[in-house]
Amino acid sequence: MAILLDSASTDDAAAAAGLGFVHGITTNPALMAREAKEPLAHLARLLTAFPAGPICYQPTRTSYAEMNDEARAAAAIAPDRVVAKLPATLDGCRLAAALTAGGIRCALTAVYSPAQALLAHEVGCVWVIPYVDRAARHSDGGLAVVDSLAAILARLQSTTRILAASLKSTPQVVDAVLHGSHDITAPLAVLRGLPAHPLTESAVREFADAWPQA
Ligand code: E4P
Repeated sequence: MAILLDSASTDDAAAAAGLGFVHGITTNPALMAREAKEPLAHLARLLTAFPAGPICYQPTRTSYAEMNDEARAAAAIAPDRVVAKLPATLDGCRLAAALTAGGIRCALTAVYSPAQALLAHEVGCVWVIPYVDRAARHSDGGLAVVDSLAAILARLQSTTRILAASLKSTPQVVDAVLHGSHDITAPLAVLRGLPAHPLTESAVREFADAWPQA
């Protein structure tokens, strides 16, 4: 599996690179807007702060023509690292088909239905990105979405991977994987919290107490 950071902060990106278990980054226009006025220039900064692995860049514009221009410009900055992250709308699917045909890797994002995953498979997306916590907030179906994506992609024997997003806690990360997500993306605080367990902490304290610490 792959663990990704969901952030557009260069500080977060550098910290995630130092963790050693983070494979790449996902951004979105809202996260980008918090960090910079010029998203493509900021993408270049993120690529430097996180020096290896994929960065999923979502265009800030929503018309087909503008998404096309922005996604191509983003991919041109680092063709081997940038993944065009496109909304799972009709235009997003059309654009993913055009970009993947030209060798630009794509992911469909804001995914809530197996029909969207079917199209992600059909146009050759690397990832399909369900929003688990948002789905849970709007119904009781946060993990049911992951179940349905896993079922249809397995049925199609697809190479498209599920990258679960909108994850707010360790249990949500674990459940997303147990329900069939291949990969996950989460904010830095969630990633840092993954190994936390009170019994681990108390064992470490006990062993430390056995040896006076400098
Ligand atoms: C995923 O790539 C998105 O950036 C993100 O996870 C969206 O969901 P959130 O705003 O609920 O975190």
